[in-house]
Amino acid sequence: MSEKKRIVVLTGAGISAESGLQTFRDSDGLWEGYDIYDVATPEAWQRNPVLVQEFYNMRRKAVLEASPNAAHIALKKLEKGFDVQIITQNVDNLHERAGSSNILHLHGIITKSQSCIDPEAVYDIDGWELKMGETCEYGSQLRPHVVWFGEAVPMIEPAAKIASSADIFILIGTSLAVYPAAGLVDFVPFRAEKVLVDPNSSSAGSGKWRIIPEKAGEAVPKLVDELLGS
Ligand code: APR
Repeated sequence: MSEKKRIVVLTGAGISAESGLQTFRDSDGLWEGYDIYDVATPEAWQRNPVLVQEFYNMRRKAVLEASPNAAHIALKKLEKGFDVQIITQNVDNLHERAGSSNILHLHGIITKSQSCIDPEAVYDIDGWELKMGETCEYGSQLRPHVVWFGEAVPMIEPAAKIASSADIFILIGTSLAVYPAAGLVDFVPFRAEKVLVDPNSSSAGSGKWRIIPEKAGEAVPKLVDELLGS
């Protein structure tokens, strides 16, 4: 049986925008309302853990109230004809809820918590609220299972390996403002077809890119149908 071509998809906050979840750096983005250094660094957690916990509880509530949009759903459909590997910078669980099979979270996932002393000790959060004082079997305070600025990105190596195996690479809804995630583009083989979906895109470096300057919810279903030949 002919092996399916591998499509690697790197997604950012833009793919979840039409699900009603704020992006970070657009005009109404999350970082307009909050200072990263108050809510998304280890120092912020040391300084004011209640504020950090509240910030992520609010975002978790928004994620649980949101639904996957046509772009998330189309990426599931793409599995009919391809080996689809999703690498997401997002901490929402919309790719999971759309049914995608292979998802790598570079920056963690907001629906889980982790021990403050052992990052490998990860737990599901029941509902939207992770309360201060909730501890794990080590007796350690639980924090959101997300990667904060200044912290290592433990999944970057497996992600780079996946990016380097792409026959087709699709970039959806990311400003590529944050490393090491943004550096994954450099691991994509030169021979791979490269597609960028972003309504605010102008160009993505070399001419090797096919640019689709549309919203993900409109562009991705059309792109998937084109790739599936339907
Ligand atoms: N469809 C597709 N793309 C969109 C849409 C949409 N409907 N709306 C906005 N975009 C694009 C914007 O043009 C922008 O390029 O999505 C991108 C969002 O960029 P950011 O807000 O910077 O989000 P992201 O790239 O995911 O941020 C990367 O930074 O703050 C950290 O850890 C956080 O994972 C995040 C990382």
